[in-house]
Amino acid sequence: MNMRGGKDLPEITVRKLRGEDIEQISRIEEQSFSMPWSADAFRELLNRPYCTYFVALADERPVGCCGYTDICHEANIDNVVVDPLYRNRGIAQIMLERLMEQGEKDGVLAYTLEVRASNAAAIHIYEKFGFVSEGIRPRFYEKPVEDAVIMWKRKS
Ligand SMILES: CC(C)(COP(=O)(O)OP(=O)(O)OC[C@H]1O[C@@H](n2cnc3c(N)ncnc32)[C@H](O)[C@@H]1OP(=O)(O)O)[C@@H](O)C(=O)NCCC(=O)NCCS
Repeated sequence: MNMRGGKDLPEITVRKLRGEDIEQISRIEEQSFSMPWSADAFRELLNRPYCTYFVALADERPVGCCGYTDICHEANIDNVVVDPLYRNRGIAQIMLERLMEQGEKDGVLAYTLEVRASNAAAIHIYEKFGFVSEGIRPRFYEKPVEDAVIMWKRKS
């Protein structure tokens, strides 16, 4: 798959997350979140059959990650992150397309997620994918304290 933004940019591929990706994904987490997931948290995911995680690779190098936890065919999208150097090139959307293809195969009936109320880029992407806001979790986030918007996408 090619990214938007110019022919000199590396090709992006998406595949399931592997142990070898985790060190680099953890670095991206640290650059992206005030309360990042640890490398151990990612390693634990690999042993959980109900967790499905993907990595985006630019010339084989991990540049983003996303995934869901499937509980009774409801998938909680609990992490979406892209390397700051690779943002706004469509990578999150490429990953989410792959995630939802997998969800279709896995029989996911609905997706849900929480997002910081100020995270306009993420909310824009989720709305593009058909998510709608169904509520607010006041002061859900720390560092800084902020409300979470709870979004759902239900299979019609
Ligand atoms: C949110 C995040 C994953 C998006 O990754 P990305 O690869 O840059 O996303 P994409 O390039 O696929 O799409 C970005 C979209 O947001 C839009 N956008 C960018 N900044 C925006 C802003 N301030 N307000 C509204 N939309 C914005 C872009 O125009 C683009 O939309 P378009 O394709 O309709 O033009 C990335 O910014 C990130 O890792 N942020 C830190 C971690 C995070 O917040 N994760 C989400 C937690 S819920």
